[in-house]
Amino acid sequence: MFDESFFEMYNQDNDEEESSAATTTSQIERTVESIDSSKIFVLSIGGSIIANDKPNSTYIAKLSETLTKLEQEGYRFVLVIGGGAIARNYMASAKSLGANNFEQDQIGIFSSRLNAMVVIRGVVNSYPSVLKKIEESKTILQNGKIPVFGGILPGATTDFVGALIAEYLQATFINMSNVDGVYSSDPTDNPRAKLFTEISYEKLLSLMKLHSSSPGPHVIMDVPACLVIKRSKIPTLVIDGNDLENFENAVHGTDFKGTIVGSFEQED
Ligand code: UTP
Repeated sequence: MFDESFFEMYNQDNDEEESSAATTTSQIERTVESIDSSKIFVLSIGGSIIANDKPNSTYIAKLSETLTKLEQEGYRFVLVIGGGAIARNYMASAKSLGANNFEQDQIGIFSSRLNAMVVIRGVVNSYPSVLKKIEESKTILQNGKIPVFGGILPGATTDFVGALIAEYLQATFINMSNVDGVYSSDPTDNPRAKLFTEISYEKLLSLMKLHSSSPGPHVIMDVPACLVIKRSKIPTLVIDGNDLENFENAVHGTDFKGTIVGSFEQED
């Protein structure tokens, strides 16, 4: 039943879609105003916030309300959604069945895109499909929509993708996970661990290198993501993603709980 003509028909449909998307893109580029990049925030939202055993629809609805309010004030957002528990469970299962690292990464990417699809359904004003190319974010933002990504590249993480998008758009990067900032050591193991309110790119990188070399402690931002924010001096905030009031304060630049990563003088 599915002979070659079926696939030809499929390819033709895709070509048409692409060419009509290209027309729309060039029209958009001519007509939209440019956006002040200091108002653009790339949010890397941990999968564990979006979904554990099932998607957290209450959170997603609240996130949508918060973003709508901030958009009305002139801020713009790009969302990058993590894979969380689904990624971990499915990758572990595939590993036990013999999947290699690349194949496990593919499952991680699919999981993050699945979470991203749920976010798209809940966040008003999202672009309606999960994006796969970083460059698409600009035109979609200019068109007034919220670009939503999951993972993109095997061997990477969604934090790395988020850092690259922030670099491309010269935006601010916000890492939103279950941890409320960058600590000197794992706060669950060490009650005396210090929360940094400010940290330099260099210090963050050396801390993350240390953490990722020993199993156990939660690595808040992986080393490749740290390298990207360091090389382009991307303004970066690390906050607890569950607390949307605190997130709002961080966007407004008023008092918030979390860590600012920047070009600070810092002793080791
Ligand atoms: P995440 O970025 O979601 O990792 O990707 P995470 O650190 O578990 O984030 P949380 O828990 O959501 O906060 C999950 C896995 O998917 C693969 C990697 O294997 C990663 O560990 N992945 C993700 C990629 O290979 N490439 C990507 O671009 C993204």
